[in-house]
Amino acid sequence: MKITVIGCGYVGLVTAAGLAEAGHWVTGVDRDSLKINKLRHQEAPFYEKDLEPLLRRHLKTGRLTFTTSLALGVANAQIIFIAVGTPALSDGSVDLSQIETVAAQIGPQLHGYTVIVNKSTVPVGTTRRLETIIAQHTCRPVPFDVVSNPEFLREGNAVYDFINPDRIVIGTDSPQARRIMEELYRPFLKKKVPLIQTNPETAELIKYASNAFLATKISFINEIAELCEAVGADLPTVARGMGLDHRIGPEFLSAGPGYGGSCFPKDTKALIHLARSYGKQLSIVEATDAVNTRIQKAMLAKIIRILGPPAGKTIAVYGLAFKANTDDLRESPALSIIEGLLQAGARIRVHDPKALAAGRKVLGDKVTYCADEYTAAQDASAVVITTEWEQYRRLDLDLLKTKMAQAIIIDLRNLLTPEQVRAHGFLYEGIGRGS
Ligand code: UGA
Repeated sequence: MKITVIGCGYVGLVTAAGLAEAGHWVTGVDRDSLKINKLRHQEAPFYEKDLEPLLRRHLKTGRLTFTTSLALGVANAQIIFIAVGTPALSDGSVDLSQIETVAAQIGPQLHGYTVIVNKSTVPVGTTRRLETIIAQHTCRPVPFDVVSNPEFLREGNAVYDFINPDRIVIGTDSPQARRIMEELYRPFLKKKVPLIQTNPETAELIKYASNAFLATKISFINEIAELCEAVGADLPTVARGMGLDHRIGPEFLSAGPGYGGSCFPKDTKALIHLARSYGKQLSIVEATDAVNTRIQKAMLAKIIRILGPPAGKTIAVYGLAFKANTDDLRESPALSIIEGLLQAGARIRVHDPKALAAGRKVLGDKVTYCADEYTAAQDASAVVITTEWEQYRRLDLDLLKTKMAQAIIIDLRNLLTPEQVRAHGFLYEGIGRGS
């Protein structure tokens, strides 16, 4: 099928490359000419595991092309995906201006029946609103349908998640649009991926409710971790014991410095806001959000409790990205910890395998950027692990100790085994490791 994807960010680009891989002919559109230039030269504009090889392959097969021209991009497309940003406003609501602008621009380009699919995470009601905006901007009456088709990709695993989805959700009342969406996803449906066909409101809410539930799991386990420390229990073992109950499941029970990223903090707040606008209160989601804010602050207090006053001390921070396998710093707990330590007078040396360049843009010359863990640990009074990069599990502890002023490791991701680290003569603190 001939498909256009408007917006070449994380969601749009992975969708474009994934659909090309599934055998479709895809045009990616973005107003950012620098980004489009990079893409034409087979370069991903951000780091995402496995994305660049996929882009390269389909730029070669010709299944994937890129343009800055929305008019050219959507010409003759059977399906137009919208995957532009929906950032948060200060009151927790969602800024829909980008998506509404794109809808207005699509209108005049429609000539025959077209399915317009929204991939961006949007408040309930947006799909129908887009229908109205597009209809207001067509040059003449032309048939089209707008479909809600939320995505559930995790950054860092987005290509895998696109090719192996847990489910496909299609929200539309139009039988014609449903048929076309089924044809689009046929390669996936053949692999028996569950399909949920529903109305747009339900599809939109599935996305928000899923993210809010996952965020709730994290805030829940982070509070249990605090209790573990108080009562002398071991959080990873508690989480394992819980997760073996198939009704709970083992995923998303890793305690840490609080959730970050471009989705959970924004989407929980947007859901709370949406509910309030209908006179409803989502007490559990509100608590999830509040606990996350508290946990992030508690991390700084924890470091200071272990280390003493940070003023004049050097601290090595391992990880800037909000999680492993990405260079994304949005709402990263590492940033708020670093800012807090800087304010308390510490000198910070940072390492991150992928996010140093992005870090420089945010932190400037306030910290020292180091190419490896051991350089970062030079003269440090403590190493603080903030992101769960696999390589931090394999630290040469003897070498690390020779570099440091004080042998202290504060492991906010529970990557290391306490007994092993202590056996090397370190003071070790993890999260919820009270036993
Ligand atoms: C999340 C969802 O997992 C995706 O399903 C969804 O499509 C996406 O949001 C979105 O709405 O676009 P993502 O933000 O990429 O994906 O990252 P996650 O892997 O979910 O991690 C979010 C945060 O939770 C990270 O800060 C991570 O470190 C933290 N986390 C995750 C924990 O602290 N503990 C865990 O057990 C799991």
